Amino acid sequence: MILVTGTSGALGGLIHERLTALPDVDVVAGTRTASGDARRIDFDDPDSLADGFAGVTVLVFVSAGYAEDDVVLARHGAVVDAAAEAGVRHVIYTSLAGSGDRLSIAVPHRWTEDRLVGAPFDVTVLRNGLYAEVPVGLALMAAESAAATGVFSAPLGDGRVAVVAREDLADVAARVAAEAYADVRAGRRGRHAGRTYELEGVAEVGGADIAAALSTAFGRPIRYEPGALSDARVVLTTVGLEPYQVGHTISIFSNINAGFLDQRDGDLPALLPTAPRPPLDLIADAVRAGGFVSSSVPAASPR
Ligand SMILES: NC(=O)c1ccc[n+]([C@@H]2O[C@H](COP(=O)([O-])OP(=O)(O)OC[C@H]3O[C@@H](n4cnc5c(N)ncnc54)[C@H](OP(=O)(O)O)[C@@H]3O)[C@@H](O)[C@H]2O)c1
Repeated sequence: MILVTGTSGALGGLIHERLTALPDVDVVAGTRTASGDARRIDFDDPDSLADGFAGVTVLVFVSAGYAEDDVVLARHGAVVDAAAEAGVRHVIYTSLAGSGDRLSIAVPHRWTEDRLVGAPFDVTVLRNGLYAEVPVGLALMAAESAAATGVFSAPLGDGRVAVVAREDLADVAARVAAEAYADVRAGRRGRHAGRTYELEGVAEVGGADIAAALSTAFGRPIRYEPGALSDARVVLTTVGLEPYQVGHTISIFSNINAGFLDQRDGDLPALLPTAPRPPLDLIADAVRAGGFVSSSVPAASPR
C-alpha cells in the first residue's frame, strides 16, 4: 500500500488524486484531520504515525515545513523513525532543489535528507523547485496597487527565480511512487531507489516578467520597479505572517536579488510525460482568475 501524507494540502492532495486514478495501485490518504478512508497522520503525534504507517510499503512523505525549524526537525525525525519501525520499504521525500541551498528553508530539508541516509528502507529524494505560486502570490498582492499606479514594485532587484508548476511536481511524485510500488511488489530494488532528483524550475521569473503578466491582464503597460528589502520586511511584519515566515520570505527575496535561484537544469523534463507547464501562463491565469482584468482597472487611472 502507498500512503501519501499531507493530503489536505495542495501538493499531497494532487499526488493522492493522481495515484487513485491509476490501476493496480492501492493508495491511502494521510492527513491530520482524517475522515472516511483517510488515515490520521500527524507528524507532531508519533502515536498517529505508528498506527497510520501499519501495512504501508511505499510512503510519500510530503514535508511539513510551516513552523520554526526545531519543530520541523522534530516532526520529520519522527516520520523517519516511525517509517523504519513500521517496516516501510521505500520512502519518497519532497525536499528543496539544490539551487535553494542558501535559503533559510533549506535547513530542515537538508537535515531530513541526512536523517534518511542509512535508514533501513529505500529512499528517493524529490528536490522540488520553487512553486510558480510564489511569484503568483506576489503578483496578486501587488495587483491592485499596480492597477492604480501603473507600477509593480517588489524586492527582487534584477534577479529572477526559476519556478515550476506544483502540478508538474505532483505528476513526478505520483509517477515515482507508482513505479516504486510496482518494484516493491515485484521484489526488486527499482530504478528510483537511492536517487535524488533535482526538480528545478523550468522558467525564470523576475519583476519585469510579473509586470508583463500584469500588463497583459490589465491591457495597459505596467512597469517594474525594484523595492528595498527593508521596506518589504516592514510590510511583511504587518500582514499577519508568523515571525518565522517573515524571515523565510526575506531569505527568498534576498536569494533572488543575489541571482542564486535562477538555476533551470534538472531532472523534471525527463520525469514528465509531457512538456512542463509554462509558469508565466500560470501567473497570467491567476491574475485573470483574481478578477484583476482590464475592466477592474479604475477608470481614473492613467493609461
Ligand atoms: N517548493 C516550494 O515552493 C514550497 C513552497 C511552500 C512550501 N513548500 C513545502 O512543501 C510542502 C507541501 O506544500 P503544499 O503546497 O502542499 O503546502 P500546503 O498546501 O500549505 O499544505 C501544507 C501541508 O503540511 C502538512 N502538515 C502541516 N503540519 C503537519 C503535521 N504536523 N503533520 C503532518 N502534516 C502536516 C499539511 O497536511 P494535512 O493538513 O493534510 O495534515 C499540508 O499537507 C509544505 O508543507 C512545505 O514544507 C514548498
